[in-house]
Amino acid sequence: MSTVQVMLADRSYTIRIQRQCLRELGAVLKGDHGVSRTVLMTTRRVARLHAPELRAGLEDAGLGGAQIEVPDGEAAKTLRVAQRVYDQLIELGADRGTFLVGLGGGALCDLMGFVASTFLRGIAAVQVPTTLLAQVDASVGGKTAVNHARGKNLIGTFHQPRLVWIDPAALDTLPVREFRAGMAEVVKVAAIWDAAFFAWLEESAEAVLRRQPEPLAHAIRRAVEIKAEVVGLDERELGLRALLNFGHTMGHAIEAVNGYRRIRHGEAVAMGMIFAARLSESLAVVASPVSERIANLLARIGLPAAPPDWREQRQAHLHAIAVDKKVRDGAIGMVLLEEIGRATVRPIPPEGLLAGEF
Ligand SMILES: NC(=O)c1ccc[n+]([C@@H]2O[C@H](COP(=O)([O-])OP(=O)(O)OC[C@H]3O[C@@H](n4cnc5c(N)ncnc54)[C@H](O)[C@@H]3O)[C@@H](O)[C@H]2O)c1
Ligand SMILES: [Zn+2]
Repeated sequence: MSTVQVMLADRSYTIRIQRQCLRELGAVLKGDHGVSRTVLMTTRRVARLHAPELRAGLEDAGLGGAQIEVPDGEAAKTLRVAQRVYDQLIELGADRGTFLVGLGGGALCDLMGFVASTFLRGIAAVQVPTTLLAQVDASVGGKTAVNHARGKNLIGTFHQPRLVWIDPAALDTLPVREFRAGMAEVVKVAAIWDAAFFAWLEESAEAVLRRQPEPLAHAIRRAVEIKAEVVGLDERELGLRALLNFGHTMGHAIEAVNGYRRIRHGEAVAMGMIFAARLSESLAVVASPVSERIANLLARIGLPAAPPDWREQRQAHLHAIAVDKKVRDGAIGMVLLEEIGRATVRPIPPEGLLAGEF
C-alpha cells in the first residue's frame, strides 16, 4: 500500500494508491473517518465499469447505496447539471454529514468538487479518479470548476477533498488515447520539478504505456507526490502552484481554437509544453536545450507535437491567449524552463509569444 499526504494544516488529507482498492473504501470511510452516509456520484459509462466494486464496499460498511449519475465528460461541467445534482441531493435527504464520493475522470472530479463545496455551504468530498489525468492531477489539490459559455473553468472554488482513493488497475479499461493524454501531465510535473523522474520516464515510458503494474504505480505515485508537495506549499496559486501551468497557456489556446471535443486536454498540454520549451530557448531562459528531450519523450508516448494548421491559425491562438484569465497588466505569466526539473514564471507581453514556435 502506498500513501501520499497533502499537508494543509486542518485541511490535510491522504491520497491512497493501491491496485484493486475500490472495494475497501467503504470500510475506511466508516472506520477512519466515522462516516455514516455517502452519496456516490459518477457517470453511466464509469458506473458500468467500476461502480460495482465500490458500491459493494460502501454497502458492506452500511453506508447506503445512493447514486447520482451525470453526463459523461465535459458535458457534465455546467451549472445546469450542478443544479440537477443539488435537486437529487435534497431529494435523497443529504445533510452536512453526508460524504459525496466522486467516481470518474477529471470532468467528474471537477463537478463533484464544485457541488460538494457549495451544497449546504460545503460537505465532504472523496475523489475516486478513474482516468490517468484525474489520478495524477484533477483529483488532487482542491480546484473545482464548471464551465461558462464564454470559457472553460470560469466558475469554481477551492475545496480540498477529505480523501483521494486511487486504483491504478481502474486504468486497464481506459482507451489508449485517454491514457496518453494523462501522461502529458506526468511529463509536466517531471519537467518542472524533478530531473531524476524525467530521466526515469525516458527509461520507462514504454513500460508505463503498457500499463505494467510496477512502473505505472511508480509514475502515478511520483506525479502525485509532486502535485501534493506543490499544493502544500501554495494552495491558492499565489506563487509556486502556477508552475503547474507549464504548457497550459498555449495548451488552453489550442483547446479553445480547435474545440474541446477534437483535442484532449493532455494533448493540448503536450503541444503547449513543446511551445513553452522552445520559447524558453529563444528567450535564453534555459542554460542548455531542453525542448528536444521533451519533444522526444512526448513523441514516444504518442502525443502530438503541434496543433493542426498552426501557421494559418497563429493569430487565433495568440488572441485566445490574450483573453485567457491569467493575463495581468497586459502580460502573460508564462511558465518557462530553466532546465529539466526547474521552472520559472516570466511576464511576457502577448507579442513576445511571436518568438515562440512548435
Ligand atoms: N481540478 C483540477 O486541478 C484539474 C486538473 C486537470 C484537469 N482538470 C479537468 O479534468 C477534465 C479532463 O479530465 P479527463 O481527461 O479525465 O477527461 P474526462 O473526465 O472527460 O474522462 C475522459 C473519458 O474517459 C472515460 N473514463 C473515465 N474513466 C474511465 C475508465 N477507467 N475506463 C474507461 N473509460 C473511462 C470518461 O467516461 C470520459 O469519456 C477537464 O475538464 C479539466 O478541466 C481539472
Ligand atoms: Zn492540465
